[in-house]
Amino acid sequence: MTDRYAVIGNPIAHSKSPRIHAAFARQTGQDMRYEALLAPLDGFAATVRDFLAAGGRGMNVTVPFKLEAFALANRHTPRAEAARAVNTLRFDDGAILGDNTDGAGLVADLMRNLGCTLRGRRILLLGAGGAARGVVLPLLGELPAELVIANRTEARAIELRDAFSPHGPVTALPFGALAGRHFDVVVNATSASLNDAAPGIPDCLYAPGSTAYDMMYGKGLTPFLEQARRQGASRLADGLGMLVEQAAESFLLWRGVRPDTAPVLVELGGELQR
Ligand code: ATR
Repeated sequence: MTDRYAVIGNPIAHSKSPRIHAAFARQTGQDMRYEALLAPLDGFAATVRDFLAAGGRGMNVTVPFKLEAFALANRHTPRAEAARAVNTLRFDDGAILGDNTDGAGLVADLMRNLGCTLRGRRILLLGAGGAARGVVLPLLGELPAELVIANRTEARAIELRDAFSPHGPVTALPFGALAGRHFDVVVNATSASLNDAAPGIPDCLYAPGSTAYDMMYGKGLTPFLEQARRQGASRLADGLGMLVEQAAESFLLWRGVRPDTAPVLVELGGELQR
């Protein structure tokens, strides 16, 4: 019987995940079906349980349900524990495993697709919400020289620093205190783009050869990438590659094979920003 998977969110109509996973399934010859499920804002757990009862094998979870998915899972991978959020569920006999593949997706896109070195480099992470929290541990795993977390509200950056400082060289700063510093990789994990804004960071943060990475994506340059271009970043990348790579990590968790992401990224038009 064909195995069933789904992405669950609200809204969900514009999700690219069904297209990505259909391409992965074709490529790897896996007998599976992957659909998009709209859950009512107050009906996440019930929708998951219905899907499970109907024979579902796993799910991707997107906005705004990643925290609820963490609460619903009764086992967690270490990276989901660190993120305190879940974007991937796998239904094992009687148990719901929660994983978080977002950070691995970011690191894979930076290193494999963009050829970016992280080891020994200075990384700036902008934002200290759920999206930022999910990528801190995987970034530290690549042994950067430093990871500076900067946030509009400094207290939230400090909270993240305190949570992750046992795992590597993390510091926390407000945006204003970044003046005079230089970074090799700057990752935007703020939601400023949703308001068509760029984070209010000082000019001149970009070291020669640096990469600006926006975890968001859209048509053309996001406000953050437009700002990065003006401020002298050498390379600009949006989050489409991260989306495809996190999907590949979920696929690996479910099916035991990691698909080749390059043709899928090309199919989605992701090479345009790179
Ligand atoms: P998410 O789950 O997407 O990370 P979140 O937890 O609400 O959402 O966090 C949003 C992040 O974007 C926060 O770091 C927020 O900064 P504050 O902690 O100061 O609120 C950041 N953010 C949102 N709009 C921003 C803007 N216009 N400029 C800078 N940072 C912004």
